[in-house]
Amino acid sequence: MDFKLQSTSLLLPEQGSVTWKSPSNIALVKYWGKKPVQIPANPSISFTLDTSATTTKLTYSKREHPNGNYNFELLFEGKPREDFKPKIAKFFERIEAYVPFIKAYDFVIETSNSFPHSSGIASSASGMSALALCLMSIEKKITPQITQEYFTKKASFLARLGSGSASRSIEGGLVTWGHHEMLPGSSNDFASKYPFEVHSNFINYQDTILLVDKGEKKVSSTVGHNLMHNHPFSEARFAQANNNLFKLKEILSSGDLTSFMSLVESEALSLHAMMMTSMPYFILMKPATMEIINKIWDFREKTGLPVCFTLDAGANVHVLYPETDKVKIYEFIKNELVAYCQKGHYICDQVGNGATVLAEQ
Ligand code: DP6
Repeated sequence: MDFKLQSTSLLLPEQGSVTWKSPSNIALVKYWGKKPVQIPANPSISFTLDTSATTTKLTYSKREHPNGNYNFELLFEGKPREDFKPKIAKFFERIEAYVPFIKAYDFVIETSNSFPHSSGIASSASGMSALALCLMSIEKKITPQITQEYFTKKASFLARLGSGSASRSIEGGLVTWGHHEMLPGSSNDFASKYPFEVHSNFINYQDTILLVDKGEKKVSSTVGHNLMHNHPFSEARFAQANNNLFKLKEILSSGDLTSFMSLVESEALSLHAMMMTSMPYFILMKPATMEIINKIWDFREKTGLPVCFTLDAGANVHVLYPETDKVKIYEFIKNELVAYCQKGHYICDQVGNGATVLAEQ
């Protein structure tokens, strides 16, 4: 699909504003390793989350004297944040060829997260997808004939150029990103909704996020991805991820929770094993991460209840379980796991429906 603007004679709106709320997501099969520009080394799949989200209002007014530069103000939780601007400027550079109108406007970007900023929860997925969607709303004003399908795909395409995992934060439920032979229409350029049957066990799946370490990560995802170049195990890892997607198709249709849990935990530990075997190597898990993992394994063995964990590129633990076992597992989390969270902080989340537009003028 060609994501360059379709029309040649563009009539740009003078001014306006649009607000999108876009969720975070949690990968089951992880994206770790990429090629320029933002092309994943392997396909990935995630649950879109519900309550963990970024809300972004983009106000735009046509510049009287465009000077070939971008012009935007950035307010995070109501306060100007100069330190966030380089990431947005880089994003604008990468997407300019596809949304050339960005140089024609003065922008004010007002953004806030539903989760505390210093929670260690990556806000790049929800933040970049929210901004991409705001820009697509402007594009839709310029070219109203674009279809909903094109809007969604291009939003994911743009979000990917901001942060790979952001491509998976546009639509709800299960979302895949990256070419895989099993997935018709799958692409490295944008994410798509998982196209096959999903057993009811996985509807409204629960994700309680235990905030073990709220500090800034010592190694950014970008650096971590780059360490997959010349990594001794990279080819095996990419093959494993591809293979896990095949396996997951069967699991998602049969509702086999035992196989689901071992696949998801193995993916999380493989991701962290890649970090530990990079050169330079690094460890993002903390002692509390390990304590929580062991407690989950003990509880699962004792009760037979289907609770498992996954990890992002950080120390926080995502505790995953089906809605039907919510009461007992949540009791366990409160009684035995919350003690390991920094200041006892955690977030109760579950699978959500994707990004929504909140206002448009
Ligand atoms: C471990 O999407 O944050 O969460 O493309 O460099 O912005 P960039 O990386 P990012 O990487 C996410 C890695 C992960 C796994 C995943 O979400 O698939």
